[in-house]
Amino acid sequence: MLTYLLDWLGLLVRWLHIVAGIAWIGASFYFVWLDNHLQPLRNADRADSDVAGELWAVHGGGFYRSRKYRVSPPELPSTLHWFYWEAYTTWLSGFALLCLLYFLRAEAYLIDPTIAALSKPVAIALALAALIVSWVIYDGLCRSALARHTPLLASVLGALFAAEAWGLCHLFSGRGAFMIFGASIGTIMVANVAMVIIPGQRELVRAKQQGRDVDPAPGLRGKQRSVHNTYFTLPVLFVMISNHYAMTYGGHNNWLVLIALSFAGACLRAWFVARHRRHEGDGLVTALPALAGALTLAVVIYALAPSVERTASAAMPPAAVQTAQVQSIVEQRCEPCHSVAPTQPGFSAPPNGLVFQTLDQLAAHLPEVQQQLNMHTMPLGNLTMMTEDERAVLLTWIGHQQH
Ligand code: HEC
Repeated sequence: MLTYLLDWLGLLVRWLHIVAGIAWIGASFYFVWLDNHLQPLRNADRADSDVAGELWAVHGGGFYRSRKYRVSPPELPSTLHWFYWEAYTTWLSGFALLCLLYFLRAEAYLIDPTIAALSKPVAIALALAALIVSWVIYDGLCRSALARHTPLLASVLGALFAAEAWGLCHLFSGRGAFMIFGASIGTIMVANVAMVIIPGQRELVRAKQQGRDVDPAPGLRGKQRSVHNTYFTLPVLFVMISNHYAMTYGGHNNWLVLIALSFAGACLRAWFVARHRRHEGDGLVTALPALAGALTLAVVIYALAPSVERTASAAMPPAAVQTAQVQSIVEQRCEPCHSVAPTQPGFSAPPNGLVFQTLDQLAAHLPEVQQQLNMHTMPLGNLTMMTEDERAVLLTWIGHQQH
């Protein structure tokens, strides 16, 4: 019963997480777009010299006119809308999910004894430390002298994130490592909102209310973090869906895949942002990030392609594989979870609806089963302690079924 209720809790929190994330990133994409499309005021309006630019849009059956002020308007309006609950809700719900799945069931989702034999408390402590330390280092670098040299800062941050990806993939299961990496960048994004962007805006408003000269520095600092957030978005979103794709996190060089796909995501975002400013640059410069992103994706897709050898390497003489033996392996190693009424603690229903109580049921999903076995992503966390010999037997049997 508890497992069943926890499943529901997971579903509801995940639902909230997605909705809040869409609201947050949707608004964030919109404001980046808005900023990059602002046009100078026409002659008649020039009197309003505090205005940096404006934009007209038509949406939902009406016309909209947005203006951006260089630092602040001459007078604050009585109602000023803020955007932060979307970000905070996304983080809070995301952290709750992290606890529900990756911490509460660390032995299934976070720990892989073949990578590092961590105890549950140690694994959780390391994961939490990764979230905190990445923020502290990132924030420190952004406040240092390095921040004045954008390309240098970008290179240093890129190298540090790559090191983090490598480190996490050598501590946790592939799936867990990817998620902690995504969560640490997501935490940086939300901390940027909570600790830099919003306080900066509060300072702008306070200065205005007190009739002080408004210092543009906090606003500019917020702008820098906001730009970073936009490049972080696609890598984080990739990680959040990566757990459906064992081919990305399951392999030996999964840390390289994580780095490459994060880089590709940042490049594609950079391309979108550059397209907003097309009127300013030339076409080639605009297309460069898109080319880099697409090329990286192509290389990863090529590199991860299953080789015939890898599948055949598990081959044994056909006679060695007995149906009864396969049946018994599946019964011991898969059925505890993949059955109508799972016996494995923590599972109240067959994962992904996949039931393997008969070999026919297994045979209906051969390609997926083969992939999961090859990648060592099933049995989940190898909780049912499948041996390499059993894996080889099952893979050989699958090979025969497919011919
Ligand atoms: C400890 C529980 C557990 C055991 C044991 C287990 N699985 Fe799974 N399996 C899962 C879970 C959970 C998922 C869903 C993964 C997800 O998407 O979060 C899953 C998903 C799958 C999928 C679908 C993957 C996809 O993304 O399409 C396949 C195929 C699969 N398992 C095969 C197997 C095979 C074969 C065995 C036995 C060798 C096995 N599983 C043993 C828990 C288990």
